[in-house]
Amino acid sequence: MPKLKCLFVSTEVVPYAKTGGLADVAGALPKELVKQGLDVRVVMPYYRQVKEKINESECNLNLWYTVDLGWRTQGVDVYYDDSIVPTYFLKNDHYFHRDVLYGYDDDCERFAFFCRAVVELITRIDFVPDIIHCNDWQTGPIPLLIRDQYYWDTKYHNIKTVFTIHNMKYQGIFGEEALDLLGLNGGYSNSDKLEFNGGISFLKAGLIYADHINTVSPTYAEELKTQQYGCGMDSLIRESLYWKTSGILNGIDTDKYDPATDRHIYKNYSAKTLEDKAINKSEFRKEYGLKDDGSMLIGIISRLTDQKGFDLMKHVVDHQWFMDKLMSLNVQFVVLGTGEYEYENMFKHFKHLYGDRAGVFLDFNEGLAQKIYAACDVFLMPSEFEPCGLGQLMAMRYGAVPVVRQTGGLKDTVIHYNYMTKEGTGFEFTDYSGYWLFRKIEEAYDCYVNRPKDFHKIQLNGMTKQYGWAESATKYADLYKLIKG
Ligand code: GLC
Repeated sequence: MPKLKCLFVSTEVVPYAKTGGLADVAGALPKELVKQGLDVRVVMPYYRQVKEKINESECNLNLWYTVDLGWRTQGVDVYYDDSIVPTYFLKNDHYFHRDVLYGYDDDCERFAFFCRAVVELITRIDFVPDIIHCNDWQTGPIPLLIRDQYYWDTKYHNIKTVFTIHNMKYQGIFGEEALDLLGLNGGYSNSDKLEFNGGISFLKAGLIYADHINTVSPTYAEELKTQQYGCGMDSLIRESLYWKTSGILNGIDTDKYDPATDRHIYKNYSAKTLEDKAINKSEFRKEYGLKDDGSMLIGIISRLTDQKGFDLMKHVVDHQWFMDKLMSLNVQFVVLGTGEYEYENMFKHFKHLYGDRAGVFLDFNEGLAQKIYAACDVFLMPSEFEPCGLGQLMAMRYGAVPVVRQTGGLKDTVIHYNYMTKEGTGFEFTDYSGYWLFRKIEEAYDCYVNRPKDFHKIQLNGMTKQYGWAESATKYADLYKLIKG
């Protein structure tokens, strides 16, 4: 039987360019699908960051074509690297040779260009996929372009599309010019098509025109149908698109994130040698100037944005500021991440207040992240919403006990510990409040101090769970087969 062919489209892919979890998924899932016997190729923009990662002269395919964008015509130069998974890089320096990946005034044009270039690519590389798997708003128009502009070409007749939502909050909303750039007629600006909140939404194009909508956890797939989490798309999904919407959990790269072999950490350990985790804690403290005071170490590794729930640390709990209350316990905390000014400032302030009981690193640094997972006892993820979340999976793998809010993928991956049955991998709360966040940290603290055997059991339960991609990739492969028909 011929291999199922999939073109996986993502605007960030590890190791080439990354801003968030999407890049991890796009780096790992195709690799696993190839292992399982599918013919998967990845396509992404050729950013400035990609140049450092590939050998440009060896990767140039000498393939050049143009796409139309409104009244302009723009060139595409195709590069290809198959050292990990066959990956195409679409080069146009005007759009992609920039400091960062997103956030420019012409993002509409940049990603309209990318979508049109991807659809055109298929006629040029002799790879007609069974499935095009699109991810997030930047790739949303692709399923529509195939139907609207390529229906006359038999090559495209049997292509099915999957659209994965990694975060419903980012919807790619632009003005009417989006239609012109995508080569679509004005009819698409109706509210039953791409119109959304007075603009044109790239994400909505993906939702409506893909053959299947997928998101990164079963719980988030359900939550999207509610007003609380649907970001305005809830009634559309609930009433019209529910029949083609499902959720498949992400995994993590278990070769890379393995405390038994991780070269970034101070001493390797596994579930069998968990006592060596303590060495990581004390060495970490030494290196980063935290007091060695027998306290419980709390870790946070996250983008510092509203979604992640750190505003709860500004709440008042039992007539006391959250942080005063938290720091009255024998704990220390360490934060790694970058993001919104407000949260960066908040953590800087906490560092100022708590000195050598706090480590604050406003940075993005994978090696340091791994050291923190290895060093900390408890890992915080109080997200307001969380499509899947990868931090809690890494934390559990490194024996750090997660305290999370019960939402999206956090709900699907962390199980509240049960003292009777000794089952469970962490602590969870539901109400989005500083009060409940504190109570759950307190519960974890009580367990750490007074019930060390249970704490140890939670760590072991977390470390011995399976987090790899094998199972999820099998589900994707089944989904592809199902919609291919
Ligand atoms: C987004 C989501 C996160 C998810 C990741 C990968 O970053 O916020 O929850 O894990 O995408 O799917």
